[in-house]
Amino acid sequence: MTTTPFPADFLWGAATSAYQIEGSLDVDGRGRSIWDSFAEQPGAIEGGGDARIACDSYRRWQEDIEILADLGLRAYRFSLAWSRIMPDGRGRPNERGLDHYERIVDALREKGIEPIVTLNHWDMPEALMAHRGWAGRESVGAFAEYAAAASARLGDRVDRWITQNEPWIIQLLGYQLGLHAPGIRDLHAAVAAGHHVLLGHGAAVDAMRSTTKGRIGAALNLLPCVPASDSPEDAAAAHGSDGYVNRWFLDPLLAGGYPDDMQEHWERALGGSLDDIIREGDEAAIGERSDFLALNFYTHRVMAAAETGPDRPFPWQVVGSTGEVDRTDEGTEIVPNALRDLLLRLHRDYPGVPLMITENGAIYGDSPTHDGRVHDVRRTRYLRAHVAAMAEALAAGVPLVGYTHWSLLDNFEWALGYRPRFGLVYVDFRSGERIVKDSALHYAQIVRSGGLPASDLGPVTAEAPLVDSLGAFG
Ligand code: FCB
Repeated sequence: MTTTPFPADFLWGAATSAYQIEGSLDVDGRGRSIWDSFAEQPGAIEGGGDARIACDSYRRWQEDIEILADLGLRAYRFSLAWSRIMPDGRGRPNERGLDHYERIVDALREKGIEPIVTLNHWDMPEALMAHRGWAGRESVGAFAEYAAAASARLGDRVDRWITQNEPWIIQLLGYQLGLHAPGIRDLHAAVAAGHHVLLGHGAAVDAMRSTTKGRIGAALNLLPCVPASDSPEDAAAAHGSDGYVNRWFLDPLLAGGYPDDMQEHWERALGGSLDDIIREGDEAAIGERSDFLALNFYTHRVMAAAETGPDRPFPWQVVGSTGEVDRTDEGTEIVPNALRDLLLRLHRDYPGVPLMITENGAIYGDSPTHDGRVHDVRRTRYLRAHVAAMAEALAAGVPLVGYTHWSLLDNFEWALGYRPRFGLVYVDFRSGERIVKDSALHYAQIVRSGGLPASDLGPVTAEAPLVDSLGAFG
């Protein structure tokens, strides 16, 4: 019998976020969030959908927890809806919002499932737009008040917190390209927003320490950047892009401050110094506070040198791979070895920081077949390949503590609406019915076996002997 490099207490789990699954947008004193207004703008959401019902998880949360328990998962990463707890952005917290999440946390713990709680998964209260949302510095204090309220109520029973989800995506899609709420297109506002999200992390950690013993970190979406050719120009493009996407957030959190090369890129792009955004003392207020690093991993970026231009502030561009590359239904390149290499790099560059993968998953459109089941073989394969990558990193000594697959449920995929299905569990959006996909059953078996390679796994259930036919993968 092969041994597994996964520790016995490895946090195998699945992830969701409030806005993407809850629905029930106007109950129990919830305030409006920036996504409510954004989704109302014509053309903002593919297919014209909105999140008024989504997976109906605000009402069906017990069913979701039953599924997690049936699968034997040990952790559930979910987020609190900021505007349920701080409906007006600032001031007194809404107790009914907190009650809801307290019930979820207690129910998870009763089943032996560790709650991993995200505070900001993008659904900022609309009221904070009076101060330009994350582009304004007021957001930092508002976020710290919310974090303090959440921790005061839940801090004694939440062992792991994630303050911010994907600062780069907030900056890029929310404030630079305007493709996500709040729909702003302004490069200066975008840099300010990214910085305030990081400052918000620091302020939240400080506001929570007295009420929780839980570990606190932020979740970055990291994209390894690889040069498209072996030319020095493309190597420089890959390094620059790495500064833009990865190091700009990693270094202030874990290495004491923003990287110089990227500061220079930003100064050139903005045509002036960053001093009005990054003030004296800010870097000290961000760093040396994280108990772990959470990372969301989907793919890599293949980079080539490029001319700068009005819509291209930096001398690089994403060109993607050519040739035969495995892709998801959305065309995203599937590169599990890049996950292994990323974990090794993080361990090398930021030694001693425990790592947790808080998102990893793929869009596959499989729906129920004649037998009523969802045979999403490609998701199983994707999952296995990434588990194999984690196993290699663990065997090389990387301090990886957990993995929460994105996502537990098919859900509202932001501007893409309901078309992309990321779930281990299929959701019929008309009836709300959940159908556990084959990939979830395979995941359950991986978890039960402690992460053994596919070749050592028996069939999951009598009805789903896919493991045999797939063989070892990775
Ligand atoms: C991440 C988000 C998550 C989901 C996945 C597919 O960027 O954090 O909410 O949209 O991508």
